[in-house]
Amino acid sequence: MIGTCMVGNVFFVIIPGQKKMVAAIAQGQEPDPIYGLRGKQRSVHNNYLTLPVLFIMISNHYPMTYSGAWNWAVLIVITVAGMLIRHFFNLKHKGIIKPWLPLTGAALLAGVSLFLYPRPQAPKGPAIVIAPELVTFANVQEIINNRCVSCHAATPSRGNFVTAPAGIKLEDAGDIKRWAGRIHEQAVVRRSMPQGNVTAITEEERALLGAWYRAGAPGQ
Ligand code: HEC
Repeated sequence: MIGTCMVGNVFFVIIPGQKKMVAAIAQGQEPDPIYGLRGKQRSVHNNYLTLPVLFIMISNHYPMTYSGAWNWAVLIVITVAGMLIRHFFNLKHKGIIKPWLPLTGAALLAGVSLFLYPRPQAPKGPAIVIAPELVTFANVQEIINNRCVSCHAATPSRGNFVTAPAGIKLEDAGDIKRWAGRIHEQAVVRRSMPQGNVTAITEEERALLGAWYRAGAPGQ
């Protein structure tokens, strides 16, 4: 939406204004300064929104920035930080150096990062204990197949993914062994996978993956 507003600023205000001014000059008239002022105002808006919009464009790599209840506040803080940094460069072009601007921007971003840092999540409901000797690799592979492989495959069948997200394929036993540590971290400790739990992994399955990992992630 912000990007669309920025394009609108250019196409509906800045360019038509310029055309009117050029036309006036071509006819030997004094151009109305209002077009220049309006264009300048919109280009200032666009200038300060550049960094926030760039961040929004790549933000799907950082789901923690928009998936929480405070996503609106996170976006506001990141936007303000981007504007402060931009303001620093605008002044710098005029020869004015104000280091507190980027420092404040960086401090705001550091604050957001700390706020969003994924903490280990307690399992919902009573802890499920699974004896590692009861876990077979076939159990693990079945869970991964059911809950992860629709996305984490060379050609994912779910969503708009063209390749395996984060380059992590979990299709065969070798892949699962290779990524055991990160599977454990994402699905058991941080519980950020499956994304949005769209594949409805159960608490028992998470506990089973945990037991497998703690037993040294044995294969077959
Ligand atoms: C709906 C699709 C989807 C499903 C289902 C899914 N993932 Fe993911 N996974 C993603 C996306 C998207 C990313 C990359 C996020 C990013 O760009 O940072 C990812 C990233 C990861 C990563 C790397 C994250 C990191 O920073 O180390 C691991 C590990 C992972 N997934 C494991 C799993 C496991 C295990 C399951 C099943 C229990 C699973 N995923 C299910 C979409 C999915």
